[in-house]
Amino acid sequence: MRDCGDFKTIVDEIVHAGIALVDMSPVLHSDYERLFAEGGHFFSRPLQEKLECAPAPGTNVGFRPVGQEYSIAPSIPDIKESFTFLPAEASHVTAHPRFVHDLYEMMSRAVTELDRLCGGIMNVLAGRYESTDPIYAAAHSQLAINYYPSARANSDILIEPHEDGCLLTVLSATHSGLEIQHRDGIFRACDAVVGGLAILPGVSMTHATGGGIEPTLHRVVRRPGVMKRLAIAYDATTDLTRPVSPWVIRDGFPQRLDLEAQLTLTRFGLPPLGS
Ligand SMILES: [Fe+2]
Repeated sequence: MRDCGDFKTIVDEIVHAGIALVDMSPVLHSDYERLFAEGGHFFSRPLQEKLECAPAPGTNVGFRPVGQEYSIAPSIPDIKESFTFLPAEASHVTAHPRFVHDLYEMMSRAVTELDRLCGGIMNVLAGRYESTDPIYAAAHSQLAINYYPSARANSDILIEPHEDGCLLTVLSATHSGLEIQHRDGIFRACDAVVGGLAILPGVSMTHATGGGIEPTLHRVVRRPGVMKRLAIAYDATTDLTRPVSPWVIRDGFPQRLDLEAQLTLTRFGLPPLGS
C-alpha cells in the first residue's frame, strides 16, 4: 500500500500496472468510516423513502434504485443501489428530504480530501507529459456510495466488467467482491479496497494520453457470506467548465476532452454531466 502523499509512486503504478493501492489519509479514513455508517443507515430505509431522494430530471445528485444504471447493456442492470453527490449539482441537495442532508454534508467533506489526492496525482501526471494543466476538476467529479444487495442477485456477477469513463476511479469498500483485470488479462480479487483505496485509470485518461494509459477494467462479484456490501467510488472527471485539450494530440483520439467527458455517463444509462 502506498502512502497517499507519495504521488510520484502512485503515478508510476497507475502508468505501469494500471492500478495503485493506496493508504487513506487519517482524515479520509475518518470521513469514510462515517460515510459507510451513514450510508448503511440510508440504504436500510424503505425503498419509498429512498425514492424521495431521486435525482431531478437531467441531474445525477441523489438515489438510484437497481435497474437504471448498467455497465455494458441496459438489459443487464448493475445489481446495486447508489447515492451520488457532485459539487456542481450541490444546489439540488436542498430539494431532498432532511434525513439525507447529513449524508450529503459528509460526502462534500470527503470530496475535499479526495480532491487533494486526485489533484496531486493529476499534477504529477501532467508533468510527465510536459504539461502544467492537470485537466481534472472536482466540480463535476462524482462521489457515489453504492450498496450491493447480493442476496437479490440471480448471478454471481453483480457488476459486469467495465471502466468508468473518467480520468481516475478511486474505490473503497466494506467487504471483498471487487475484481481487477490485470495486464495479463486475468481478473483477480482486490481485497485491498477494504480499509484502503484502489486507484484505476478510465478511458478519459486514455484520451488524454493519446492511448498511453489504457483503462483498467473491473467488476464486482458475489462472495460467499457477503450478503450486503457497501462501496465508495470517486470518479475524477475532466474539467467541464472550459475547453480541455489532451496532453498528447494523436489522430483517432478526441481533441476536446471536456465535450467527450460530458457524455460519459450516458453510456451507463445516466444523464450527461454539466448540462
Ligand atoms: Fe466502476
